[in-house]
This record gives sequence, structure tokens and C-alpha cells, in this order.
Amino acid sequence: MRRIAIAVAAPTLTFALAACGALGGSGSSTDASPTKGDDLTVGLLLPETANTRYEKFDHPIIKEKVAALTRNQGKVEYANADADAGRQAGQMQRMIDNKVDVILLDAVDSHAIADMVRKAKEAGIPVIAYDRLSEGPIDAYISFDNGLVGEVQGRSLLEALGSDVDTSDKIVMINGSPTDPNAKQFKEGAISQLSGKVTIAKSYDTKDWKPENAEANMAQALASLGTDNIAAVYSANDGMASGVIKAFKAAGITDLPVITGQDAELDAVQRIVTGEQYMSVYKSYPTEAETAAQMAVAKVQGKDIQFDSLTRDRVSSPTHKNIPAQLVSVVALTRNNIKDTVIADGIYKKSDICTAKYREACEAIGLK
Ligand code: GAL
Repeated sequence: MRRIAIAVAAPTLTFALAACGALGGSGSSTDASPTKGDDLTVGLLLPETANTRYEKFDHPIIKEKVAALTRNQGKVEYANADADAGRQAGQMQRMIDNKVDVILLDAVDSHAIADMVRKAKEAGIPVIAYDRLSEGPIDAYISFDNGLVGEVQGRSLLEALGSDVDTSDKIVMINGSPTDPNAKQFKEGAISQLSGKVTIAKSYDTKDWKPENAEANMAQALASLGTDNIAAVYSANDGMASGVIKAFKAAGITDLPVITGQDAELDAVQRIVTGEQYMSVYKSYPTEAETAAQMAVAKVQGKDIQFDSLTRDRVSSPTHKNIPAQLVSVVALTRNNIKDTVIADGIYKKSDICTAKYREACEAIGLK
């Protein structure tokens, strides 16, 4: 609870100060040009399209917020790498050549991109890591509390198994991409809750976070463990949960075990309504994306006080320590709080979720 309060309070405070004219434009940053006005360009590099969040939320929200912060004069130059690290390096090089004023980088491969981060810095372009902590000399990091995401997933899974959970109960872990540092944090957070409580019978890292790769790994787990021996599947996100479910169905199983997820994708919320998926993790994309836009604009305009107030946390990457950061809190999304999370925040309307196919199931859980 406390973490939520902090995460939400920081941007509000910034707005308040800015509104009173308390924040000047004369920063001492070596990267940003304090004289830069509203006609700025933010380079935005997002990692993939297989999961819906990037095209549906991250990009449009950042674009809108940059416009709002710059009296419609600021632009976003956008590129999506489609899970290809080499392509992302090329996209970043183009942004450096185009002399964008700041780069928001959500890395496909947090290690491989470090050289490009260095190049941007040499060209005087600040780099803010977005969602995934990239290596190299980044100026700041904005993300969710990724360890907490994993803990929430692990705790929910145990809750769903109930009080008669036994250490011999077998679970399968379908983790995210090995090149995404978040995936490691999700996994560690989940293991911190699960270890000693259940048996992790199989664990896979999923190339590129692709649902079809998750499906193949799950099919392999089913073949080796047997179809009635799996109490739960830890799936690190919703896209992969859909692949996991396909593998169960292909093996002829309709009575699905407990399955977790993350990202509150619309399909997943519908699966939660019908009970096919137990939970997801709701991450407030507006909070993360709007804060990223505020950080980027403050950095370019040399508004150091504002920038500092947005980055009160500290994180370390494998290459750098004490990176200014903001880590936004997250909550478990189950059939009990659909209304108070995704609907309350305007992410989906009830009518988006409760289409004809889901009307009955919606009514059954009181979503009317
Ligand atoms: C993670 C991100 C998740 C999910 C996943 C798949 O880095 O934090 O929200 O989208 O990537 O792309």
C-alpha cells in the first residue's frame, strides 16, 4: 500500500510545482540543453508486438503525454523492434543520427544494447531505460517493481492451491525471455514465495516471450510429467498463458490447473472471468508511461528538480550502480477485483470484457 502511495504521489507533486511556476528551466545537467524549449523529439524504442501492451498502451500514452507537456510541439519518434535485438540497435542508431533529444529505451536484449547506449551518450543524447533495465550509462530508469510482480504471482498461485497444498505438488514454471532482465526478477520473486511450498518440476525460459514457444515448452512438460500430475503452471505473462492453455487442450485436458499471468491483456481478463486463467498482474501502464514522458521532457528541458522528484528510487544494473529510478507498484488481478482495477482505471470498459460470449460468465461473478 505504502509503495502505491509513493508512486502516485511523485508525479502529482511535480505537476503541482510546475503549475506554480516553481520549477525553473536552468538545470546544471551536462546532458540536457537547458535552453531547449517545447519543440523537442523523444525517441521511443519498444521491444516487441507479440504482447499487446506496447502498441495498445505504452506508445500511445507516451505520445499523448509528450504532446500535453509541450503544448503540442514535442514529438515522439517511435520504433518497435519486433523482438529482434539487431533491429533495435539499428533503430537506435537511426535515432542518434536523427539527433533526437532524448531516448526512452525498452531493450530487447539489455546486455547487447549497451554499446548503443554508450554511443547515444557520446552524441550527447540522454537515455532513460523504460520498463527493462538496460546496461550501459543510462541516465535513469522507470519501471514497475518487478520483484514484486513475481512475488504477487507466486503468492496468488499458492492461494489458489489452497490450504491443503503439499510440498510434493508439482508446478511448471514458464518464465520470460532470458535476454529480458525483468524476466529474471519475475522468476526470482516467484521462487521466493514458492520454494519449500511446492515442487518446481520443470522450469523453462521462453525465447522472445512468444506464446508459441511457451506452448511448445508446456507440451514438453506435459509429455514428461504426465497430464494429471500438474497442480499449477506459473506463466510469467498472459500471452504465454494462452500458449500454455493451448498445450493443455491439445493434450485433451479441459479441466485446467491453476495458471498465472501478467499484463491484464483483454483476452486474459476474459479467461479470468471464465476461470480458465486464475490471475494476471495489473500494472498501471498510464502511470509508467506518463511518468516516462515527464522524465524525458524534464531531462531535455534541464528541469533538474522535477527530474529528481520523479526518480527517488535507486537501482543497479550489471554495469552501473545507483541509477536514479522510479518503481511503480502492481496488484494481483483476479475475478474479484476486475471492476476495481482495469475497469476503474479506464483500461477496458465492462462491455469490452463482457461481450456476448462472456455475458453469462460475467454475470456469474457479479460483473454486470
Ligand atoms: C516484460 C514486461 C512485461 C511483458 C513482457 C513481455 O519486460 O515487463 O509487462 O510485457 O516483457 O513483453
